[in-house]
This record gives sequence, structure tokens and C-alpha cells, in this order.
Amino acid sequence: MPPYSQVKSLTTDYLIIGSGVAGLRAAIELGQHGTVMVATKDLPTESSTEYAQGGVAVALSDEDEIGIHFEDTIKAGDGLCNEESVRILVSEGPERIIELINWGAEFDKEGSKLAFTLEAAHSRRRVLHAHGDSTGREIERVLINKVSRMERVKKASFTMALDLIVEDGVCKGALLLKGKEVILCYSKATLLATGGAGQIYMRTTNPRVITGDGMAMAFRAGAYLKDMEFVQFHPTALYSKNVPAFLLSEAMRGEGAILRNINGEAFMKNYHSMGELAPRDIVSRAIISEMVRTQSAHVYLDLTHLDEDFVKRRFPTIYNTCLRFDFNITKQPIPVSPAAHFIMGGVETDVNGKTNIEGLFSAGEVACTGVHGANRLASNSLLEGLVYGFRAAREAIKYVEESEKFLFPKLISCEKPSEIDLEEVIKIKNDIKQTMWEKTGVIRCGESLSKAMEKIFPYYERFSKFFFTDPLIVELKNMVTVALIITLSALNRKNSVGAHYRTDFKEKLPSWQNHTRVIKKDGEAVVEYSGIK
Ligand code: FAD
Ligand code: SIN
Repeated sequence: MPPYSQVKSLTTDYLIIGSGVAGLRAAIELGQHGTVMVATKDLPTESSTEYAQGGVAVALSDEDEIGIHFEDTIKAGDGLCNEESVRILVSEGPERIIELINWGAEFDKEGSKLAFTLEAAHSRRRVLHAHGDSTGREIERVLINKVSRMERVKKASFTMALDLIVEDGVCKGALLLKGKEVILCYSKATLLATGGAGQIYMRTTNPRVITGDGMAMAFRAGAYLKDMEFVQFHPTALYSKNVPAFLLSEAMRGEGAILRNINGEAFMKNYHSMGELAPRDIVSRAIISEMVRTQSAHVYLDLTHLDEDFVKRRFPTIYNTCLRFDFNITKQPIPVSPAAHFIMGGVETDVNGKTNIEGLFSAGEVACTGVHGANRLASNSLLEGLVYGFRAAREAIKYVEESEKFLFPKLISCEKPSEIDLEEVIKIKNDIKQTMWEKTGVIRCGESLSKAMEKIFPYYERFSKFFFTDPLIVELKNMVTVALIITLSALNRKNSVGAHYRTDFKEKLPSWQNHTRVIKKDGEAVVEYSGIK
């Protein structure tokens, strides 16, 4: 490996890391103002966005209002949403969706009108969907098409960001890895759009690329991570041996699917008046309770009472995928249990995607604008990616246009990359995933979280101080960092709020309205509580 002063360097006006809905929406804006590089770890489509099923929530139906979408989002957030962020989401959302339709997005219709479905904790039918249950794929298709026609936007596939370049408190790009080559990519403004961190859990709906890289890179660079204890577990992921935790959309319950325990009993009404359509955290905990009570590893999602043709037409991807795993959703109740799905916390930003590091912006699931509070309302995150990807891009343009000139460092000094045996990497990855699942999962307590810390901290000590260039090891280092920060935040929040539920502090006790902020001090992760909104 050559010293880094000799490696290839390139310059772009704007660097976007990640090609999901947030990164691509930003690229469309930025590409009109300068050169843009979209660096993405895998194929451009490989992202959570691509697999999003249920739909995108937007107040566009005749029976809906922006104010009602606002109220539902605030209610789901359990008192911790930033009201300004939510107001922006719901009021700018319709414009972003109409624009997407004008670019060619084909959402499902009933006759000549858009079809809206119902999902948990929504008081109106407001969720648009495409090809039944492939909403994310349709959005990704349209955005990629649009970006492909923009001359100044370069898509760098299979290009992984290793670390941000920060000099004198200003972000000046990122260190990228393409194959075995390390590249210094200098940029006037950098946007993190790397999505969430689901892969740090043993059971997750998230694709393989979602390993918390953006959060870990930002933390290493000195950015604030906010409210990381709030992890959303989706109630219904397929449960079967040697089968991935494939998502069975909440929209299925919206269309009448019933949750039953292994004795065939419908149980949700015993836990919440909204039954199957109660908020996600309540449904996930109810399922765990039933699993414990009946000593089973799963419950069932039952659609067998619904019209077979309707189910096949409305959920074609889910129907066909389950069939591949030998489950016919029209003929038999499907074994399901919760899985890590979304993280409400992330890199702290203002409502314009600005982080505490000059030149660094963040949007989508990696960011925390406060829009989701302690619990996300279903189908609000595709909308978040569109609205805040757009806003972060606008802010980055303003920043670049108002700055006098940009000086890029000539040399970046990095340590020689360290090596670790790959078999060991896989072993440690599984250990982290299992620990997070068992000890920092749907239901937590001080004892379980302390045990998780005992397990994770030595790994953090071992990996955080070294520089790696093997993608698997880089991912492991990022996963360990994010696992540590989630657990530390959960340990410090001695309350149960939204998706964070502790059996030793079951209530909202004094100071529950504080937000958690984790910062790096002398190489250590340190928790700060603050009155920040
Ligand atoms: P992603 O779409 O996750 O994109 C992240 C990008 O960053 C990817 O391109 C990835 O490869 C890249 N990346 C990551 N690390 C690096 C790195 N180090 N270097 C370079 N590139 C990197 N939300 C809804 O609103 N409605 C739904 O119906 C819905 N269904 C869902 C179903 C599933 C199965 C899943 C997993 C999520 C679902 N969600 C849904 C949530 C929603 O899809 C995500 O929150 C949203 O798409 C995130 O968009 P994003 O642009 O922030 O990130
Ligand atoms: C789903 O289709 O159930 C996922 C919706 C979401 O996560 O917003």
C-alpha cells in the first residue's frame, strides 16, 4: 500500500455519500449548480429505499389535511419531535411528491385518482404506493433516471466512503475506497446520505449495505449524534430457520390482516384499542409478550380471510417472495416476529441539514432533524428523504456560493492500514449483532444494557483507533461504534419513551423530554443531555 500522499486525489464541488432517496433527491438539486459525485458502496439501487414496501405518507387525499398529518406524526413521536421539522415535512411533502409524479413516478390509482392506504397510527388513508408493494423501487427508478440525465452528476458505484476529511473544523470531502484503491475526494460541501444502521442487529429488515457507516464516520469526525437510543423494530418480519427477516408490510394490517399467537388467538385488542393498527412499538412489544407467554419464537400474520386475488394483486412482491420460501400468504398464516427496521436518531442537523461541522450536511435516515422524535410514523421516511434531501442540497449550495474560496489540503496523513483475519471479523460481527438483539433490543433494562456495554466496549477499544481498508473490517469498525453509541444512549435514558422501553424504568419519569447527544471527547464516546429541541 503506497503512502497516502501518493494516492489518487480528485475534486468535486459536491460529494454525496449514498444513493437512496435522500442522496439522489439532493443530487438533482446540486447537479444544477456544480459538479457532483455520488459515491455509493454497491450498485446505485442497493439501499433501504429500494426495498421500501408500504408506501409514502403525504396529505394529498380529499379526506386529509396537512394539519392532521402533522398531529399524527407528533403523536407517534411521543413528545420528542421537533415541531418545526415536522411542519416542514408535512407541508413541503405534497410539492415533493407532485414533482416526483411529474418526473414519471407511477403511484397506484383507483380509477383516475391516486389510491391511498391506511397504516398504523395514521388517522387517515394517506399512504401512496406503487406496483402494490414496491413503492421504494419506483421512487428509486425515477430518481436514478433523472440523475442519469444530468451531465454534471457522476455516479461512483462500488465506492465506499471510509472517513471524512476534516481540517481546522471544516469538512473537505472524504477518503473513498474503490476496489483496492484509496482515493482522496475533495469537495466544497459533503452530504452524508448513508441511511440507517439495521445491520448491527441479528434480525433486521435492512439490506446488507446498511451498517451505520455515516453515523460512525460523522462521530469520528466530531459530529454530534442525537437520540440514538430510539431504534424502531418492525413488528412483522418473516420468521423461519435459514430465511432472511423479510418484511411483511404494515399495509397488510392496514388492509385487514390479523395477528394471532401460536394458538390461533387474535391478541392485539388485549394490548391496544387500535388493535393491529396500534403504534409500531406497542405492536412489537405485544408480539414479544405473546411469544414469551406461549413459549414460541414467533406469532402469525393471518391474511387467509382476505380475497385471494386481492392479496396477490395488492402485495405481489410479498406474495412471490414468501412463495419462494414455501409460504403461501393466501393459504396459511405466516410466522412473523419483530426485526430492527429504522433508527430515529442520527447525525444531529438543523432543519436545513446542517451539522455542527462546517461543510458537512446530512439527510435521510442517517440524519436526526427531530422529525421522528422517539418513534417514526409509518411511511414518513421516504417523504423525509425527499423533503430533507432537497433542503440539505439547497443549504449546501448556499454555503458554497457564499464561501470565498476553498483550500484543499495537499497531504493527508493516515496510518498504515491494519489487518485482521476475516474469519475473526465474521465472528465478531455476529457477536455484536446477537448482543444488540438480545440486550439492546425491543425490551431493555439497565442490566441487559450494561452487559451489552461490557461486550461491545473492548471491541470498540480494539477497532476505533485503527485505520482499515478492507470493506468488511471498515464495516465492523462502524458497526461496533454505532452499537456502542446506541447502547450508551439507551443506558443513560432512564425512562421509557416511544420505541425506547426499559423494564426498570417503565414510565416517563422527570426529564424525559431531554434529548441525548453523544460526542467524542479524547477518543471516548461521551453522553450529554440537553434541552435542545
Ligand atoms: P438508504 O435508502 O438506505 O440509502 C443509503 C445509501 O448509502 C445506500 O446507497 C448505501 O449503499 C449507501 N452507503 C452506506 N454506507 C456507505 C458508505 N460507507 N460509502 C458509500 N455509500 C454508502 N419507509 C417508508 O417511508 N415507507 C416504506 O414503505 C418503507 N418500507 C421499508 C421497507 C424496508 C424493507 C426497509 C429496510 C425500510 C423501509 N422504510 C420505509 C424505511 C425507508 O426505506 C428508509 O428509511 C429510507 O429509504 C432511507 O433512505 P436514505 O436515502 O436515507 O438511505
Ligand atoms: C412497511 O411497509 O410496513 C414499512 C413502512 C415503513 O417502514 O414506513
